Amino acid sequence: MSPVPDPSANAAREVPVEVVAIDGPAGAGKSTVAKRLAAALGWAHLDTGAMFRAVTLRLLEDGLLAPGAAPSTLDGAAVASTLATLTIAIDDAGRVWLDGRDVTARLREPAVDAGVSAVAALGAVRERLREAQRDFARGRPTVAEGRDIGTVVFPRAAFKIWLDADVEERARRRRADLAAAGHDPGAADVVADLVRRDTYDSSRALAPLTRAADAIAVDTTGLSIDEVVAKLRALVTARVPGTRELHR
Ligand code: DC
Repeated sequence: MSPVPDPSANAAREVPVEVVAIDGPAGAGKSTVAKRLAAALGWAHLDTGAMFRAVTLRLLEDGLLAPGAAPSTLDGAAVASTLATLTIAIDDAGRVWLDGRDVTARLREPAVDAGVSAVAALGAVRERLREAQRDFARGRPTVAEGRDIGTVVFPRAAFKIWLDADVEERARRRRADLAAAGHDPGAADVVADLVRRDTYDSSRALAPLTRAADAIAVDTTGLSIDEVVAKLRALVTARVPGTRELHR
């Protein structure tokens, strides 16, 4: 007789411990806020989008991904062999290392932006990174941010936040980030890219961008980074046992 599948097996393998999960669409402020919140709590910070970007960079370098390509055009076997050989590490300073190289500055390049949604839709990539994300948080309290953190990667996270903002505001922030990195796409292009990515991320079959039923929604439209961080610190320290303010 074949064993009865255990629907809780996925959750059981997950680290059930101290994780604050922050999910939401592109440009909602997740990375900056998660980093600051982690520092305030004295917890580690895990930017899972950076991991998907690192895989995308490697596939571009290997010539396996054309900018803007659909996932169906990717060669599954070639992607699998790339996944088998690559290594991704995030150090305590938040720098991302791909195969031993510091690629942090390259992760926001336009070609990576254009290709990352297609790569993030691939089951083999998601599976590999999901385990790496769980390994990262094993044994250390972590503020993890992404699209499926509260729904798939850490369904039993101690606290879940859904961070969102108006699309115009998200586009303004994204454009400022790009300008700081030396790129300057027009405002219309940035809005179009955000909408395209959100639609793609929300409608994919695997681990789509979606709010966990037990996530607290925080709309950051019109709020400064300091205001958002203060709000989240108050929520987390009030609700997660063992968290304390470091008053940084
Ligand atoms: O947060 P970001 O813009 O760096 O994310 C890059 C892409 O990776 C985004 O288009 C969606 C995808 N992603 C994902 O599918 N799941 C995650 N947990 C994090 C990011």
